[in-house]
Parts: sequence; structure tokens; C-alpha cells
Amino acid sequence: MSNGIPSFIKWAGGKKQLLEQFKQFFPDKIENYYESFVGGGTIGFYLLKTHPEIKKIYLSDINKELVTTYKVVKNDINNLINLLKQYKEKHNKEFYYKIRSQEVNKLSELQIATRFIYLNKTCFNGLYRVNSKGQFNVPIGDYKNPTICQEEDLREISKLLQKDDISVKQFYDAVKKAKKGDFIYFDPPYYPLNRSSFTKYTKEQFLEKEQEKLAEVFKDLDKRGCKVMLSNSDTEFIKNLYRGYYISVVKATRMINCNATKRGKINEIVITNYLIQKKI
Ligand SMILES: C[S@@+](CC[C@H](N)C(=O)[O-])C[C@H]1O[C@@H](n2cnc3c(N)ncnc32)[C@H](O)[C@@H]1O
Repeated sequence: MSNGIPSFIKWAGGKKQLLEQFKQFFPDKIENYYESFVGGGTIGFYLLKTHPEIKKIYLSDINKELVTTYKVVKNDINNLINLLKQYKEKHNKEFYYKIRSQEVNKLSELQIATRFIYLNKTCFNGLYRVNSKGQFNVPIGDYKNPTICQEEDLREISKLLQKDDISVKQFYDAVKKAKKGDFIYFDPPYYPLNRSSFTKYTKEQFLEKEQEKLAEVFKDLDKRGCKVMLSNSDTEFIKNLYRGYYISVVKATRMINCNATKRGKINEIVITNYLIQKKI
């Protein structure tokens, strides 16, 4: 746990480092919260912790194994922790590749979740990458003593998730029932600054067509009276899609080079359909 927000996986594009800058955008009171690209869940966990008035939270993602993992964290936490501890004991190179080669559709939900967290904590850089058949193909990482079972964080997340309805859904299906006053945060795969740096989370791509569809969904939710917030890369393509809405710049530390050791600050943008009144 860092900055008081529990976490259970590493996820590309995770929002932990941006949380301080994001706080100004969140509404003071939230009744229902939707997050359709939930990934590691930082923002959802933060809002659940700081907004006890939230009645219902709808988290979704297109990654089936990730969603199964959330369900198991919510509903079967004791067994998950027990099994993770067993995996921690057995962890070595041979065990890693044995678990990685398992066929997911032959596993129970508990096994899928344990495998998902175990591979996430022990693979190279916490990456999630699949081949064209959808099989996880990241090599083992170089950790001396990886934290495989973050018991305290997992238990806290399990409690927080009791208000959650988690599902595998396309982003546009996930918000169909959102109504006036509901708060929605979209954190899609970012539009690439250049195509070679594109982050691939699933075997599906998320490029111009998907970004345009997302902008349509944003506009539709705006018309329906929802509060909508979206983060993305600071690119002309994205800014053009959201012309007429409030666009703010935040600073993120990202890999700025093919050379993984080179990190730097870059601008990213947050788009809202409401005016930010708070000062940081
Ligand atoms: C930028 S990440 C989200 C990061 C996350 N908010 C965090 O803090 O870790 C984007 C997420 O969108 C999901 N995704 C990609 N395409 C999607 C789609 N068409 N519908 C729903 N989710 C999608 C990916 O599986 C990935 O988890």
C-alpha cells in the first residue's frame, strides 16, 4: 500500500502517480460510480475509501481474467490468500512456466485469480501481454523476493468491493444504464504519441475507430446529465474529439524512450463535461 490506497496488481497506465493531481476533478458527492476500463483499480479504490456515501460502483474491463480476479477477491478472499501463499512457497523458474502454460479455460475461478496475481507479481515488469491466441506470454521477471500475496491490501480491497458490480463488458455496454447525476471515469488505452509506443492490453486494438466511439459515448452521457471524466494522451487527435469540453493538463512520469531506463515528465490530459471548482 502506498499513499493509503490498496493495490493488488501492477497495471500499465496505472493511475497511482496521478492521484494527487486527479483529486481536484472528482465530484464532492457521488451516488453511483462507473469505471469501464478498470485495470488496476486505483481510482475506484480511492473513491470507495474517500466517498462512503457511494451506493453502487460498476467496474468493468474487457480483460476476462482480470474481471474474474476481481470477483474472486470480492467473494473468495480467504481461499485466494491461502492459495497465493502456497504459490509463494513454490515460486521458482520452473513453477512460473508451469503456471504460465496452464490452459485458463480448464481452471476454476479461484485458480484463474491466483494464477493472474501470481504471474502479475513475478513476470517481467508486471506486464500483461498476450499472443494472437490470447495466451499470456511474458517471461519471468528478475525479482529476488517478489511480494506475491499482499494480504492486507487484498483484504481491504475485498471489503471495498462489496459495493461493486464487476463485469466483463465493452466500455459502451458498461454505461448503458448510467443516469442523471452518476459519475463516470474513463481511462482508455491512451491514443499513442507515436504508433510504436502503443500499449496492447488485450488482443484487440484500441485505435482511432475506438477512440471516436468512446467520444460518442462521452457525448451521449453528457446529454443524459451524467458527470463524465476521461484521461488520455495530449494529442491533437484526442483534443479534436472533445472540443467544447473542459480540457486540463496533468504531468505524468512515463517511459519516453525505447530505452526503458529513460523516464521523463510528459503532459497528459483530463477531459470533463463539468467545470472544476476546487483548487489543488
Ligand atoms: C489504461 S488501462 C486502465 C488503467 C487503470 N485505470 C489503472 O489505474 O490501472 C486500460 C484498460 O482498458 C481495458 N480495455 C481495453 N479495451 C477495452 C474495451 N474495448 N472495453 C473495455 N475495456 C477495455 C484494458 O483491458 C485495460 O485494463
